[in-house]
Amino acid sequence: MFHSWSAQGLIDPLAVAGAEGSYFWDYEGNRYLDFTSGLVFTNIGYQHPKVVAAIQEQAAKLSTFAPAFAVEPRSEAARLIAERTPGDLDKIFFTNGGAEAIENAVRMARLHTGRHKVLAAYRSYHGGTTTAINLTGDPRRWASDNGTSGTVHFWAPFLYRSAFYAENQAEECARALQHLEDTIAFEGPAAIAAIVLETIPGTAGIMTPPPGYLAGVREICDRHGIVFVLDEVMAGFGRTGKWFAAEHFDVVPDLMTFAKGVNSGYVPLGGVAISGAIAETFEKRPYPGGLTYSGHPLACAAAVATIQVMEEERVVENAAHTGETVIAPGLRELAERHPSIGEIRGTGMFWALDLVKDRETREPLVPYNASGEANAPMAAFTAACKKNGLWPFVNMNRTHVVPPCNVTEAEAKEGLAALDIALSAADEHTTAA
Ligand SMILES: Cc1ncc(COP(=O)(O)O)c(C=O)c1O
Repeated sequence: MFHSWSAQGLIDPLAVAGAEGSYFWDYEGNRYLDFTSGLVFTNIGYQHPKVVAAIQEQAAKLSTFAPAFAVEPRSEAARLIAERTPGDLDKIFFTNGGAEAIENAVRMARLHTGRHKVLAAYRSYHGGTTTAINLTGDPRRWASDNGTSGTVHFWAPFLYRSAFYAENQAEECARALQHLEDTIAFEGPAAIAAIVLETIPGTAGIMTPPPGYLAGVREICDRHGIVFVLDEVMAGFGRTGKWFAAEHFDVVPDLMTFAKGVNSGYVPLGGVAISGAIAETFEKRPYPGGLTYSGHPLACAAAVATIQVMEEERVVENAAHTGETVIAPGLRELAERHPSIGEIRGTGMFWALDLVKDRETREPLVPYNASGEANAPMAAFTAACKKNGLWPFVNMNRTHVVPPCNVTEAEAKEGLAALDIALSAADEHTTAA
């Protein structure tokens, strides 16, 4: 095995023996509560029997078929997804994952507008393929950033670490929108095909945009004829306590990408939900893109079963309710006792703890993109979580609380108790220690 994002000689991957619901275990008998949902994709937990059965049934019936044909689970998955996406995002193009969804969304936007440039935010992640990694606004881009992709980065709102010296959300919103206007003016509006944003940026830190920001971006896009792409690969399918995060802000993009939670990652699947206007562009003119496994029957059967399970078991409602009644108050209580917590932010089953050396200065607990000795405080935190049976999501100076959307109240409390112990290890690296 050659592993992602890693120096191969420096890693020691855990051998996983099995998983069920919110837990997985190794061959040594260690059991972990998974507060990462894999890579934030097992929104209904591991091994849901109805989804496993649906995949088995589809495998017995028709395990694969080429993408140019109408196949029942493919059509049904598209129907169920289009019923839930906002506005007129009613045509579904299937891919095998999130990055391919971004690649195709950008291609559609470029062909629809006849323009080339694409704007994306710093502090973002959009995938590991060429266009997607160039759009990414985190250090994973640096090694692949060849400067020829037509991507341009700007600052999106993030009050806690404001790029605009703003002191409240209204200021942050207004200044971030002005900064976007200025970026567009200097890049040339007539050259810009799309603005790509995560509705609520995920891996980069779960920064919920202030009220009015996404509506403001929508208005700017409309004024300049720019396609608005919302990336809901991580935030979609229940993660934020709504089917799609865009519902929190009452905005409808022109294209919306999805993956991960669409079938909880049981079989690779992603896609683009397409507006009527952009679908119309390709009514008489061929769309120059495709994938051998687009709308794979096993992946689509898993999506159909997952969406049905999410409806029957009220998984989206659970994410909203358990987020509000257990996770949010639990994290607030931890923040009162642990000086390493600089800020908690999030909604539903989508939370970040921004860990700091010093609450006053907000200096991150470890430097941006730290590794080795410089990352020791986060390594100590991670080790303490695992020792206490919790598998944490850790990125730079943050831990994210992103358990399955059907996590039970008892599981959520168990995870918070383990976090409590591990945060004491982080506290030792603060100025308060
Ligand atoms: C917001 C967002 N977009 C795109 C991607 C890329 O998805 P994939 O890894 O399935 O290609 C990710 C993956 O984490 C993501 O979080």
